[in-house]
Amino acid sequence: MTKLNALIIGGGMITEQLILPVLLQERRKGKILQIAVASRRRTTIQKLAVLFPDAEIKGYPQEEDENPSAWKTAIEDLSRPAIVIIATPDDLHPEMALFAIEKRFHVIVQKPLCLTVRDARKILNLSRENGVYVFTDYHKRHDLSLRALQYKYRKGEMGEALCCHAWHEQRREIPLKYFRNWCERSSPLEYLGTHYIDMFYFVTGLEPLKVIARGQKKFLVSCGINAFDSCQVFIVWSNGAVQYLQTSWILPETNPCLSNQGFQITCTQGEFRADNADRNSNFTTTKNGYELFNPYFFKPYLDRDDPEKTEYLGYGADSIVQAIDDCIRITEETISFDGNNALKKAKQLISEFEKTRPLPVQAIIATAVIEAGKMSMMKNGAPVVFDENLFPRYE
Ligand SMILES: NC(=O)c1ccc[n+]([C@@H]2O[C@H](COP(=O)([O-])OP(=O)(O)OC[C@H]3O[C@@H](n4cnc5c(N)ncnc54)[C@H](O)[C@@H]3O)[C@@H](O)[C@H]2O)c1
Repeated sequence: MTKLNALIIGGGMITEQLILPVLLQERRKGKILQIAVASRRRTTIQKLAVLFPDAEIKGYPQEEDENPSAWKTAIEDLSRPAIVIIATPDDLHPEMALFAIEKRFHVIVQKPLCLTVRDARKILNLSRENGVYVFTDYHKRHDLSLRALQYKYRKGEMGEALCCHAWHEQRREIPLKYFRNWCERSSPLEYLGTHYIDMFYFVTGLEPLKVIARGQKKFLVSCGINAFDSCQVFIVWSNGAVQYLQTSWILPETNPCLSNQGFQITCTQGEFRADNADRNSNFTTTKNGYELFNPYFFKPYLDRDDPEKTEYLGYGADSIVQAIDDCIRITEETISFDGNNALKKAKQLISEFEKTRPLPVQAIIATAVIEAGKMSMMKNGAPVVFDENLFPRYE
């Protein structure tokens, strides 16, 4: 089997908690060769090297203590075939993605793809032109509960979407502790809301027509952080259906899980309602107290063949594995062709994947809604509409 080298850009929470464990597991299955991580500070790499000694991480920056451009050197150094995984603050995704696409490396971007339609269009156009696969990690598309909804909807059992209520709220430790230094450049709508906007599109295939949003700044500003506590967005979709989405970042530390979240949709022939935080499999332990436990996201289990080992399972991993498998397939199916024919074959495969995967032509939908939502919040709920290329403008 073809093995890919992997470069992760950004050594923060998602890299430590999810991406590195998944890559190590995929390496044991023979899909990944060398793992490199490029972050801003060398201390981040040193910390990851201690946490994941088996990964034998090649780290950037290599000499300096701090270098915000070390990721460029890491991409220049990357041996093919390889994949670049972008796990940096949301507003940094486009520059990094475009550089990797320019160098013709396949890319996995943590959600959201980017924050503006202008950047999404650039990524879409360049990735198509260069025959490069760019996958946004919308892992909820792999949650079986939500896939079941998509199945029944697309098979006609639900009828047509009328209205939807989704909620996604996180503990205050996220802006206060994990990304204090970039939460002002984001918002609960952009960081969290993107998931259930993409989900509405994934289930129904509808496109957004109009967005109205409001946001509040009360608690975090009192802590010296100029970020929204909470955002609400009202989205009108192309058949007239309405989605109301509430997001926030200020749940107390004592909330029994990191995220309260769920998705309800009313359709002409039925309703779906899921609490995606409380999966009815909860723990109370001396160590963690009462814990709403979601076994389906990304959790450790005893390896069935070797109980001494830990196996990570769940939709958080499945999403990244889908992209790795796609990139291996593109590599294997293009390797025997010369330059132009390899490009032609890669383009053909990518045009197939575009129909079913969160490639830029699909990921642009959530980007358009969060950009419009931010515009609307900035003008206290002014309605924002879209042109035929999804560029938002005030109505
Ligand atoms: N799929 C998911 O469920 C999920 C969950 C959490 C976060 N995310 C997304 O993942 C991304 C990262 O989030 P996080 O929670 O890990 O954030 P984080 O703040 O914990 O980590 C970001 C990392 O990027 C690094 N970084 C910043 N500027 C850099 C630069 N110029 N070059 C290299 N590295 C740089 C930081 O030093 C830090 O290590 C975000 O886009 C976020 O929205 C996705």
